[in-house]
Amino acid sequence: MKLTDKIALVTGAGKGIGRAIAEGFASQGAIVVVNDLPNSPDAPDTVAAISAKGGQAVFFGGDVSKTAEIDALFERIKNTFGRLDVLVNNAGITGWGTVWDTSEEMFDAVMNTNLKGTFFCSVAAARLMRHPNNGGSIINISTKAASLGIKNLSAYAASKGGIHALTKQFAVELAPHNIRVNTFGPGAINVERNLHDDPDYATHWGAVIPMGRTGQPEEMVGPAIFLASNDSSFVTGQLFYADGGWSVQGRLPENSLDAQLKSNEGK
Ligand SMILES: NC(=O)c1ccc[n+]([C@@H]2O[C@H](COP(=O)([O-])OP(=O)(O)OC[C@H]3O[C@@H](n4cnc5c(N)ncnc54)[C@H](O)[C@@H]3O)[C@@H](O)[C@H]2O)c1
Repeated sequence: MKLTDKIALVTGAGKGIGRAIAEGFASQGAIVVVNDLPNSPDAPDTVAAISAKGGQAVFFGGDVSKTAEIDALFERIKNTFGRLDVLVNNAGITGWGTVWDTSEEMFDAVMNTNLKGTFFCSVAAARLMRHPNNGGSIINISTKAASLGIKNLSAYAASKGGIHALTKQFAVELAPHNIRVNTFGPGAINVERNLHDDPDYATHWGAVIPMGRTGQPEEMVGPAIFLASNDSSFVTGQLFYADGGWSVQGRLPENSLDAQLKSNEGK
């Protein structure tokens, strides 16, 4: 039980990776504030699943792309619990589109949810963590797509690249308050959304990942618990990927590689 009695907020925890992290935190003894859009049909299910296993969770709705709703969310946390120990900035939208057809509306929606939401949730969380609390951990969820150029995700990658910069800025500025700020980036994960968009998602995307498969949402829980718990008590300002090796893979012409191996045979 690495998170006993910690108050942990996970944004966008109605489904997908956020839900897995919320359930994982509760299984480690945290009291979890499950956030999602106010009208989310899924967030109550996350709370029910946690309760069914004997964990503690509440659903506090709020759209993290809007600062007024962020303020209301954190005011509610302050009034209910008086403190916050862990924030996971998980809520995110992808906004697929080529550079030619990404509209201003889509660009703004992606930036507002992913980057602006992370910025203002982090500031609001830090206010609760620094006083009367004595520190805390902020965990941002990025993506492999922000580390390499891939097609049709420019706005998304830019928003997550902004999060990489924020991670360092916030880590340094909040370190005197004993607030740690780190980021990890999932690779291709079998969430409902991806499986809906492409029923053969696991086969198609698994083929380009060194480990030969896509990840499960539950495989994002361990990294989040590490960053939330005292196991990472001296870790701040860091970024890593949980992606089966996808982010470090270079492309090689396989035929040429084979030819070079053959030419070395017997040497
Ligand atoms: N699934 C992947 O393959 C993958 C890969 C890399 C990174 N990520 C990142 O992981 C995070 C979670 O992704 P996912 O695939 O689990 O997403 P998902 O679409 O399955 O779930 C996202 C949840 O966030 C909620 N949400 C969206 N906008 C919100 C807002 N403004 N305020 C509050 N809640 C909001 C949604 O209602 C939904 O419940 C995102 O930040 C995403 O960029 C996912």
